[in-house]
Amino acid sequence: MFEQLDAPRQDPILSLTVAFRNDPRPNKIDLGIGVYRNSEGVTPIMAAVRQAQIALAEEQTTKSYVGLAGDEVFNDLITDLVLKGTEARSRTSAVQTPGASGALRMLADLMASAQPDTRVWISNPSYVNHRPVMEAAGLQVEQYPYFDPETKVVDEAAMLAQFEQLGPRDVVLLHGCCHNPTGADLSEAAWQRIAELAVERGFLPFVDIAYQGFGDGLIEDAAGLRLLAETVPEMLIATSCSKNFGLYRERTGAAIVIGKTLEHSQRAKGRILEMARATYTMPPDHGAAIVARILQDETLRNTWQSELVAMNQRINGLRSLLVEQFRIASDSQRFDYFGEHRGMFSVTGLDETQIERLKADHGIYLVGGGRVNVAGMAERDVPIVVDAFLDVGA
Ligand SMILES: Cc1ncc(COP(=O)(O)O)c(C=O)c1O
Repeated sequence: MFEQLDAPRQDPILSLTVAFRNDPRPNKIDLGIGVYRNSEGVTPIMAAVRQAQIALAEEQTTKSYVGLAGDEVFNDLITDLVLKGTEARSRTSAVQTPGASGALRMLADLMASAQPDTRVWISNPSYVNHRPVMEAAGLQVEQYPYFDPETKVVDEAAMLAQFEQLGPRDVVLLHGCCHNPTGADLSEAAWQRIAELAVERGFLPFVDIAYQGFGDGLIEDAAGLRLLAETVPEMLIATSCSKNFGLYRERTGAAIVIGKTLEHSQRAKGRILEMARATYTMPPDHGAAIVARILQDETLRNTWQSELVAMNQRINGLRSLLVEQFRIASDSQRFDYFGEHRGMFSVTGLDETQIERLKADHGIYLVGGGRVNVAGMAERDVPIVVDAFLDVGA
């Protein structure tokens, strides 16, 4: 049977990781893989997570199954994190999923089963898995204009012009904050206009929020999503605890459906659970149990929030440092976009030759497309990165 299969293609990020690991140069810098690192280059376990784990280990009395939808307390708390206080909250149902990746796939399957001729519009460029996940569910995928490589901001006029053409069979997949890979986020006015257009044209907004708290703060980062939720009748949300709780490998996230009525969103939840049963059946519990514990316990919640603020401030501090040092070294303001972008990433516009030279001449590793993981840098790396960028003609 298996001889009929093609040999597996190399995963570009994985091969970059291997190349980095095998590079003997002591001052090499990995700006590729999308994880947060502290100034010591470590992706830390947050103190609140560690404390919640210890409490769970001591208090948990069983490892019996939880249920198809995962931990309903987690589902409630994680929905509050994005939607608390909105009218739409009362029309919402949620399912715990293996990461936001699981949520993306479950919501894609939901759309494919509810409306098989759905067209999903993703940003150009978008998170590398958006297209394959949507296509694997059998959905047609199109791209809407998003990033202007010249100005390094969102071309909102072109994007909105595209949305004006859409209709009820269309779904628009938006990044809630901290756009991956570009770092360029939507203005409040654009969120507002998208909300109006969704109502006028009848398309369904789908918000993937994988970095809440990594941009301008927990509340601020969900402002666009909430604005949409206040306006549109139906909406989908995929949310992740990988970054803001540092729970990457625990695979913790949720698929959230806002329906016209609570009954509608519960029907959607029922359909997701049928599909979950036919795939992984139940999500892994440990990460969700940690998150539920943290969000329910005032002390742990405060600890977590201050740690998240510190991570956020560190990323934004690195961004300011890059702007400052690029201004001095290049005698120009053409790198100021690092300060305007939000979250872990910025698309730099470096071409493949420049990326190759950064690796060969400077031991600096970037993924294809020129995305930089600002959150992968240590403060001491900044002057080295600045000099190397200028050396390759950035
Ligand atoms: C935009 C976006 N969505 C979803 C995900 C997947 O996150 P998770 O680890 O929760 O599956 C990522 C991870 O990098 C992402 O950048």
